[in-house]
Amino acid sequence: MKKVAVIGGGTMGNGIAHVFAMNDIPVTLIETKQEFADRALNSIEKNLDRMVKKEKIDEGRKVATLNNISVELELVKGVKDVDLVIEAVPENYDLKKKVFETVDKAAPDHAILASNTSSISITKLAAVTSRPEKFIGMHFFNPVPVMKLVEIVRGLETDDDTYDVIEKTSKLLAKVPVPVNDFPGFVSNRVLMPMINEAIFCVQEGVATAEHVDEVMKLGMAHPMGPLRLADFIGLDVCLDILNVLYDGFKDPKYRPAALLVKMVDAGKLGDKTGQGFFNYN
Ligand code: CAA
Repeated sequence: MKKVAVIGGGTMGNGIAHVFAMNDIPVTLIETKQEFADRALNSIEKNLDRMVKKEKIDEGRKVATLNNISVELELVKGVKDVDLVIEAVPENYDLKKKVFETVDKAAPDHAILASNTSSISITKLAAVTSRPEKFIGMHFFNPVPVMKLVEIVRGLETDDDTYDVIEKTSKLLAKVPVPVNDFPGFVSNRVLMPMINEAIFCVQEGVATAEHVDEVMKLGMAHPMGPLRLADFIGLDVCLDILNVLYDGFKDPKYRPAALLVKMVDAGKLGDKTGQGFFNYN
């Protein structure tokens, strides 16, 4: 793995670029505007500073990491000489489809195409490319520099060589790869989102306040964050999108999103990113 392109510099994209660069794999971070790229680089620098302060890395590693990242505003240019492309654009099938159609034409034939999607079908995304056997899900977790898991999602046509390369690459990043097959929500969100949804039903039905629901799960189940704090951290719009993917994919009412979640998203209360969700961050 000599060079990697990460498409999208949001929370997940900048975290993914951070871990590749920190492990000495040069990364091209592709964004649509310079201001978005600058924001991504600022986040990476801030997170590296945090790691220096905690003595996890030294100042030299921070500088080397930043030097391993270059920015590109043109998608076609950014993927033309890389071995792996990781897409981390917003969770919208039409947007991802457009991105992969372009990437497929512009990236070298040997390049593996990966999506960091948290729930969209890998098989369906692979089908828009001419290389479904080289297409795979590489699902990281937020905060990427901290969380050990990479859920590696095999599409219907993903071949063993592609899986092996991505498994080895994940280990190179000091992550723990876990293989899963392509089903709605994979494993992570099929298990996590019903828990978050049920926590929201508890608030909706007046079983307990958001604070008390979270306290139960933190103190009783040793979760580092309660489900509602975690929902705010992930983004309530993202949680709703994933629940809808589960509901549409399985046609099972157990995945129906709580009306309170829908209402909060309609009101623009999306969690950390808007300053207000189940908790207030202002
Ligand atoms: N970059 C680098 N380091 C970071 C960081 C970042 N962005 N964010 C936190 N850290 C480090 C801190 O420096 C700290 O390091 P030490 O242990 O050495 O002190 C450590 O992480 C813990 O951070 P804090 O002390 O600031 O705060 P905390 O103890 O409350 O932990 C947390 C924060 C790691 C986020 C923890 O609360 C946690 O694990 N929460 C659950 C996160 C989770 O479930 N993520 C998955 C979300 S789902 C998803 O991403 C995918 C999806 O498809 C929806």
